Amino acid sequence: MSYKKTSGHGEWSSRFAFILAATGSAVGLGNIWKFPYITGQNGGGAFVLVYLLCVAGIGLPIMMAEIMMGRRGHQDPISTMQLLAHQSRRDPRWQYLGGLGVLAGFLIMSYYSVIAGWSLSYIVKTLFGYFINTDATRVKHLFEQMMANPLQQIIWHSVFMAATLLVVVRGVRAGLERSVRFLMPALFIILMLLIAYAMTSGSYQQGLDFLFHADFSKIDSHAVLTAMGHAFFTLSLGMGSIMVYGSYLPRHVSIPQTTLIIAGADTLVALLAGLAIFPLVFANNLEVASGPGLIFQTLPLAFGQMTGGWLFGILFFILLFFAALTSSISLIEPAIAWLTQNRQLSREQACIRAGLSCWLLGIAVVFSFNIGSEYTLMGKNLFELLDYLTANLMLPLGGMGIAIFAGWKMHTRDAERELGLSAPLFLIWQFLCRYLAPGAVFLVFLHVVGIL
Ligand code: PFF
Repeated sequence: MSYKKTSGHGEWSSRFAFILAATGSAVGLGNIWKFPYITGQNGGGAFVLVYLLCVAGIGLPIMMAEIMMGRRGHQDPISTMQLLAHQSRRDPRWQYLGGLGVLAGFLIMSYYSVIAGWSLSYIVKTLFGYFINTDATRVKHLFEQMMANPLQQIIWHSVFMAATLLVVVRGVRAGLERSVRFLMPALFIILMLLIAYAMTSGSYQQGLDFLFHADFSKIDSHAVLTAMGHAFFTLSLGMGSIMVYGSYLPRHVSIPQTTLIIAGADTLVALLAGLAIFPLVFANNLEVASGPGLIFQTLPLAFGQMTGGWLFGILFFILLFFAALTSSISLIEPAIAWLTQNRQLSREQACIRAGLSCWLLGIAVVFSFNIGSEYTLMGKNLFELLDYLTANLMLPLGGMGIAIFAGWKMHTRDAERELGLSAPLFLIWQFLCRYLAPGAVFLVFLHVVGIL
């Protein structure tokens, strides 16, 4: 059996192009929509601290491992794992790790597209002046109206899904490099403007305290699991996305350096989003733990009141849409890469199959916010269940597998050459992959199921 398949792709045009694409994958709804709302639900500062520790201690070494494995394997996650296991004379069943990733990406995509659809709907709402001189009650009411309307959400979900497939069908790189190049600076500028506005809200200090004052009595093992899961989600780790992107990476590029830049930019955007949102939450007496609607119920207030808010509002939701698009491409790409390389499908056929199934599951997710909200399992509706299953379980499990494979199963010599770290730094990386990352995930799992 031949393990090395020809992969129909070339390389990134430069290191910068890879950084742009991987940052485009990492920075998305996770930073701007999810980070603030789960921070709100989990009590603030202590949760943020655990999340930052997870990014540094678990996320960084696993991201290096994932990029490195992608560059060595040079294919979709399943074939890459197959090849690497073969090269290191390990059990071929390691390929199931790639399979877990492809499945996780597919499941995440189904609800990611629905939420991205909300941002599209908010571009139009802002454009038509819905938020001019608005107040908290009206903004909340508008959000609830959208949640109660499945058709509206299905239309926007379909538009977003179509946009993603259109980019993916043409091959990932051409459009991606160009769009992220302007997206990141623009997102940064808008977030800074929002923070400047939040500073005038009168509750800036309260927002800061909430984000950075760690009170550990406010968190439990579930909060720790959510923080850890979010570190994987926000960095796009544990499911082969970054592995696929790494497979296009030229040999001479330093993996550790690029990892630091990507993770740094990702973390910065999340913290900036938090700084923009929480002062507004407190200034308007909103509920910090209100859940997935948090940014859609706070930011329109700022746009409704600040000078130039109409324009900034439109720009913000357009940017949110683009940030979601550059992430969704990487969510579905592992499945597409696998279908084209292993099922002899053309890129178009693969996109149609994967896209159609994701779209259907997305419709079920839309119903979980309204007509199907009473269908729950373990107290969770379909959206909450998919989010929990993927972000809190599948990604950490996938990441743990990647850490174990890179730390224990690959030849040390290969890993050392590929990463190009100095000897002491390599030892630290290996320690983190061998013990800390898998150990931490395992302990948190044990804690959550009540064994510890
Ligand atoms: N990192 C993306 C975000 O924060 O929105 C979501 C994501 C993309 C998760 C790609 C996983 C992934 F493989």
